[in-house]
Amino acid sequence: MELSVNIDHVATVREARKEKFPDPAYAAVEAELGGADGITVHLRGDRRHIKERDLAVLKQIIRNDLNLEMAATDEMARIAVGAMPDRVTLVPEAPGEVTTQGGLDLSNVKIDLKSYISDLKGKGIRVGIFIDPDMAQIKAALRVGAESVEINTNEYTQAKNREEETSKISRVAKAARREGLVVHAGHGIDYTNILPLLSIPEITGYSIGFAIVARALFVGLRQAVSEMKEIIKGAR
Ligand code: PXP
Repeated sequence: MELSVNIDHVATVREARKEKFPDPAYAAVEAELGGADGITVHLRGDRRHIKERDLAVLKQIIRNDLNLEMAATDEMARIAVGAMPDRVTLVPEAPGEVTTQGGLDLSNVKIDLKSYISDLKGKGIRVGIFIDPDMAQIKAALRVGAESVEINTNEYTQAKNREEETSKISRVAKAARREGLVVHAGHGIDYTNILPLLSIPEITGYSIGFAIVARALFVGLRQAVSEMKEIIKGAR
């Protein structure tokens, strides 16, 4: 089971002072030394944290899987094809949002997502979609040619009744896997709320950022990643 560490918030700290440090590239190396199977960055339209330069440097230096989260725009497609991450995850993006608000609603996409995805795949980039845990979104993800889905765990992490949300995610994960999609999960996952999710065998990858970067303030990033990795390994 794979852990992709989202290092956006290392760049958030850098941008708070418009300094050259802390550098996400340095963070990526530390994350890999801590056992990360991959690195995720979200290049936002407003460039509030990660910038093109970060993406280019990460592509050159990381050993494992580089996942670029991005909105399905022409600008981002051009950047992805230039930078050639191993995969992209398509996410919705609204100006001014604090973090991604929900999955991409595939019933309401204004562009021809099938050809958008096909172009990226044609260049050798794997394509996934961030979706809410909803069966209709799985069917739609298949129709547009996605290879993977990342199930949005935000509602689960906020829920009073986690059991209900866990079953919902589990049902959707099973359906996605049955249809041949690779299943990931992410958003709001921390060192304790991950445990029930780890009992869903169809989820083979996790994308985790904020909790790891926050813990890193006290124990260092390598250690923070290693602790998460141990929890994930311990569950199987
Ligand atoms: N997955 C997606 C699609 C996201 O947008 C984010 C937040 O950038 C994450 C995972 C990671 O969420 P968190 O930082 O809460 O771990």
